[in-house]
Amino acid sequence: MKVLIFDTKETLFESLSHYYINEIKANPNIHLGLATGGTPVPLYEKLIEDHKLNKTSYKNVKTFNLDEYVGIEETHPQSYRTFMNETLFNHIDINLNNTKVPSGMASDLELEAKKYDKLLDEHGINIQLLGIGTNAHIGFNEPGSNLNSGTIIAPLTQETRDANVRFFNDMSEVPTVSITMGIGSILKADKIILVATGANKAEAIKNTIEGYITKDVPASALQTHNDVVIYLDKEAASLLSK
Ligand code: PGA
Repeated sequence: MKVLIFDTKETLFESLSHYYINEIKANPNIHLGLATGGTPVPLYEKLIEDHKLNKTSYKNVKTFNLDEYVGIEETHPQSYRTFMNETLFNHIDINLNNTKVPSGMASDLELEAKKYDKLLDEHGINIQLLGIGTNAHIGFNEPGSNLNSGTIIAPLTQETRDANVRFFNDMSEVPTVSITMGIGSILKADKIILVATGANKAEAIKNTIEGYITKDVPASALQTHNDVVIYLDKEAASLLSK
């Protein structure tokens, strides 16, 4: 794993957005695996800024999101589909039909998971973007998850629900189940970029990079992939030993 440590969040996202813009320009048909959560928002803001200023085009780009809550409609303000539309897709020239988010409202969720894996296998992801949970989850693969699985229907831990309650009116509204690319699905991407900012991610990052590969630390499975780049600010890197 390659680890890049930046003095500030600003310099991290400056560098990361340049990387993405160059990749998109070099391959206008690129397949991007995208993530939700607070971490990637500054990246998406910079991609929008660049699209407006420099006309970098997303007309032929395809995107595949990691996960979605089960039991809330696509149009719910906190669905990950809504998040992606509002945070990125509505502000660039991407064709919404080329943006995929698994459905958390499918009547047969197991079938939806299978269909999502088929879609991922048919297309393939060039660059998968990841955030990381304070418990080292990636997507919604919580500690204890199988490190090889395809897309799964996965319960959310209380820690994750606590972290996400800020987006809802109260805990009773926070979903308890998700549909998420499995760690096996994530590891099929050609390249993986994990981004973490802030001291609350420092322990998860230390365990991911310096710990054993274990189900208790889902992101530790990234050690088995041959092209992973981890973008950290100083705070997220603060517990690393070197
Ligand atoms: P965050 O979430 O970016 O909002 O911290 C990351 C994650 O849970 O994967």
